[in-house]
Amino acid sequence: MPYKVLVIPGDGIGPEVVEAALYVINAAAAKYGVDLEVKTAEAGDAALRKYGVAMPPETLKLADASDVIFKGPIGESAYDVTSLIRMRYVLYANIRPVKNLPGVPAVRDIDCVFVRENVEDVYVGAEYKVGDVAIALKVITGVGTRRVARVARRYAEMRKRKVTVVHKANVLRVVDAFFRDVALEELKGLEVDQMYVDAAAMELVRNPLRFDVVLTTNQYGDILTDLAAQVAGGLGLAPSGNLGDGKAMFEPVHGAAFDIAGRGIANPIATILSAAMMFEWLGRSDAAQAIRSAVERSILQGVKTPDIGGNSKTAEVGRYIASIL
Ligand code: NAD
Ligand code: IPM
Ligand code: MN
Repeated sequence: MPYKVLVIPGDGIGPEVVEAALYVINAAAAKYGVDLEVKTAEAGDAALRKYGVAMPPETLKLADASDVIFKGPIGESAYDVTSLIRMRYVLYANIRPVKNLPGVPAVRDIDCVFVRENVEDVYVGAEYKVGDVAIALKVITGVGTRRVARVARRYAEMRKRKVTVVHKANVLRVVDAFFRDVALEELKGLEVDQMYVDAAAMELVRNPLRFDVVLTTNQYGDILTDLAAQVAGGLGLAPSGNLGDGKAMFEPVHGAAFDIAGRGIANPIATILSAAMMFEWLGRSDAAQAIRSAVERSILQGVKTPDIGGNSKTAEVGRYIASIL
């Protein structure tokens, strides 16, 4: 039985980086004998203009029928597509590894994994405006915190057994204190510390190597992972996996980057490393490892996009990495 993969190219640089990643996915699947049935569907700003909905029913049907979703970035309708997928399939843990790549100029050395809660917090979509007052609800549940903390525990057990819980319980004395307390309870037996999110942002620049696994709430995780990606050399390199108890979705951390779209200069590595995470999740560490090594070789051989000091095109990088496989 093939694995059913639904590919959503997305908006802006999405189709460019996904095309490059597909060269690599197809090459890795062929080389390592991974049976994939790949379908492609529209979602995002372009779909919204065309059909009046960012997530067309046909795409949703294909997503329901898939084992795994491989997604490029979406534009202004990203919340309607990305969060819908995360919530519909209860992909409650967003795994965002951040690590230097050889030959990529970085702000600092960094090697950590963010485990970002992925379906709660201000992302529940409960916003109201009454006259001159606008209100958003931040929702944290015990069940939601325990399950994502268990994922952080799993990653910590594969690494240095160290977790930093990041929150802002000095201000959100009920909501963030609840997240902290439930998380700390669930992480007993590991080396655990905690940090306020503002200080964590500072520390990610000052001394990032102090972090191993970082467990945090949805919005702080969103913000800190862009920051951490830049510490390691840029958003164009940062992959992610959205995991639950069934399906999964893999996508780059970055957005549609309209400022550089259509020029063939977007870095496809974030998307290609997201494909490596997908193979890992499918139980194919051999293919995942081969992709990671091929990415490193392409950089060291100078086949790289302008954001990391090269002059290769997006598609060229994808084809080159695929050819190394
Ligand atoms: P962005 O991540 O798209 O871009 C931020 C900066 O990083 C830009 O200067 C961009 O050129 C650069 N960058 C991003 N990816 C790159 C790559 N692969 N190679 C080289 N440079 C890259 O963030 P933004 O500008 O705030 O958002 C643009 C759009 O993307 C918005 O409409 C936003 O809603 C959407 N967005 C979508 C997702 C998603 O679908 N997962 C994530 C974030 C933002
Ligand atoms: C991300 C993105 C999304 C988020 C947006 C576009 C909905 O920024 O995946 O980091 O905020 O989660
Ligand atoms: Mn983000």
